[in-house]
Parts: sequence; structure tokens; C-alpha cells
Amino acid sequence: RIVSVVRGTGSALPAKIMRNRDFEGVVETSDEWIRQRTGIEQRHIAGEGETTVSLAEAAARRALEASGVSPADIDLIVLATATPDNTFPASAVQVQHRLGMSHGFAFDVQAVCSGFLYALTTADMYLRTGQARRALVIGAETFSRILDWEDRSTCVLFGDGAGALVLEGVTQDEEGGEKGIIASKLRSDGAHQGKLYVDGGPSTTGTVGHLRMQGREVFKHAVGMITDVIEACFGATGITAEDIDWFVPHQANRRIIDASAKKLGIAPEKVVITVDRHGNTSAASIPLALDTAARDGRIKPGSLVLLEAMGGGFTWGAVLVRW
Ligand code: ACO
Repeated sequence: RIVSVVRGTGSALPAKIMRNRDFEGVVETSDEWIRQRTGIEQRHIAGEGETTVSLAEAAARRALEASGVSPADIDLIVLATATPDNTFPASAVQVQHRLGMSHGFAFDVQAVCSGFLYALTTADMYLRTGQARRALVIGAETFSRILDWEDRSTCVLFGDGAGALVLEGVTQDEEGGEKGIIASKLRSDGAHQGKLYVDGGPSTTGTVGHLRMQGREVFKHAVGMITDVIEACFGATGITAEDIDWFVPHQANRRIIDASAKKLGIAPEKVVITVDRHGNTSAASIPLALDTAARDGRIKPGSLVLLEAMGGGFTWGAVLVRW
């Protein structure tokens, strides 16, 4: 039996940092309002020349370096984004080319904030069926480019960045013991599409459009959906909240994260938080948080890590992985 194991992680953030106070001349808001409602203190904003593809490439190179794997060893790239450089070709093939690869195959997946978990699950399927051996799984976004900078209810929430990991398909015997992706549950329900969407697109307006969100409506559904899908993961594996070493949720809002952890019975000291420094980076938030916790030594070989996300669509999901 083949399992998909994580070999290493990497991430990249734009150079420019925008603190809550920097919004005070842009829209009517305050550091206190943003901090209290969301837990966000600052976010990174892409500057000239920084794009989803350039951030994805930088994160991918760091993940390859951390894994001791070269682009020649990669035969699949799955990139999650809702803010690609171009409508087509996929940002994944642009990263493939920048890495000097002309072998293997690369494509994007789009599930907004849940995109990284969709990408990870998709890559896991290719590795487990033997269609690929080593995958780069990337979440990369430049949400600053689709924000309405006059809408204070959304523009303060998001940031830009990218995270990546190298996933390798190995037989369980080769690896010795239970490692890698243990369980994955994905969900979606398009009935909620009007609660969080972009008001443009190639086939409707011919423009990129701007992000629109009914924040309170999203908040109302988030904790229930997140905890349901995690409980489905627990039910499928017999793993419980006490077994988890690190809970790495999608970083949208501190209140959603804390309420989900509390409802599940996951201790606060096991929760990885980056939303204070990164804001909501959509598909990039989980791999950015994973890389943060792997590099500072919290996540290490043997750690049992629970990932969770919920976002536009709605889409949501959870993945359990042994490092
Ligand atoms: N600064 C100051 N006041 C603001 C701001 C702001 N940046 N934004 C909104 N307000 C005002 C509103 O106009 C409103 O004023 P009013 O009462 O005079 O009409 C008041 O604050 C309350 O607005 P609400 O939207 O009801 O505030 P709420 O407490 O719900 O907080 C928030 C808003 C933070 C967006 C919250 O609903 C939330 O976190 N929702 C979850 C959405 C989310 O995180 N989405 C991310 C994408 S989806 C995902 O990744 C899960």
C-alpha cells in the first residue's frame, strides 16, 4: 500500500507589510476594531513584480530545499489559487516552467480558502494510484488584487503569500510505521455561493471583479461546518482530539479558530496561529502556517497534524497527516 508522506515545507511572503493602523487613512476603521473582531494585526501585500506565480515559485524552491529534492525528481505540481496570474494557462504550469521542468504534469485547483486541502487530497490520489511519485503541492494567492479597497468590511481581512510542501508516495514498509496522509474529507455546497464570491469573471463580465462577502453569514456557518467535517475524519480513523499534536486551521479569523478548537476539545496550546501576522491568505494560509510551525520546531517527525479549512462556495474539508 502506498502512502503520501510530507518531505518538507516552504513559504514566501511579499516584502511589504501593511499594519492595521495603515488602513486608518484608507477606510473608516481602527486597529482596535480589526484586532478584536479578527485577531489580525498585520498582513503582507504584493508589490510591483510580486504575483501569485512568483510567490508560488519562491515557496516551492524553499520546500524543495527543505526536502532535499530537486525539480528533476518532481513529476506533479498541484497549485491551489483563486487569484491566478492569468485566466489560463494555469499558474501551476508557469511555476513548472520557472523551475526548469518540462516533464511531468501540472494544474491548478480552485476551492478558494479550502483550495490547499483540495490540492493536497488530489495529489495524494495521484501518488497512491502510482500515477506520480513526488508532488509539489502549493497554495498561493494575491487577494489584495481582487479586494475592493473602499469596502472596509472586506479589505482589512486578507493578505498575500504562498506556501508549499513536497509529498512523496512510498510503500508503508519503506517508511516503517504509520506516516503520511491518514484521512481526508472534502465537502462543498453551492447553495451558499452568494455569501462569499467575486462579482466578475471571464464568462460573465469579462473582468476580474472584486471580492464580496456577507461576513456575518459566513461566520454563522463556519464553526458548525468545520467541526462536522473534522468529526467525520475522527470517525473514519478512530483518532480523537486528544491524539492531535498540532491543529493547523485555515487562518481566516481568530474567533472562528478558537470556537472550533473549543468545540472539538483541542487544547489552545496545540493550535497554530498565523492570522495575526498574515491575515487571511485563502489557499496559502494552511501551508504558510505549516511551514511556520515546521521551521520553529513545533511540527516534527511523528507529529499528528490536523488541517481544516472552509471558504467560498461554500467548500470545506479536513485532513489528518502524520509528519
Ligand atoms: N472597521 C470598523 N467597522 C467596521 C469594519 C471595519 N473594518 N467593517 C465593518 N464594520 C462595521 C459594520 O459596518 C457594522 O456597522 P453597523 O453596525 O453600524 O452597521 C459593524 O462594524 C458590525 O459589522 P458586522 O459585519 O456585523 O461585524 P461582525 O462582528 O460580524 O464582524 C467580520 C465582521 C469580522 C467580517 C465577521 O463577520 C467575520 O469574521 N466573518 C467571517 C468571515 C471570514 O472570516 N471570512 C473570510 C473568508 S471565508 C473563510 O476563510 C472562512
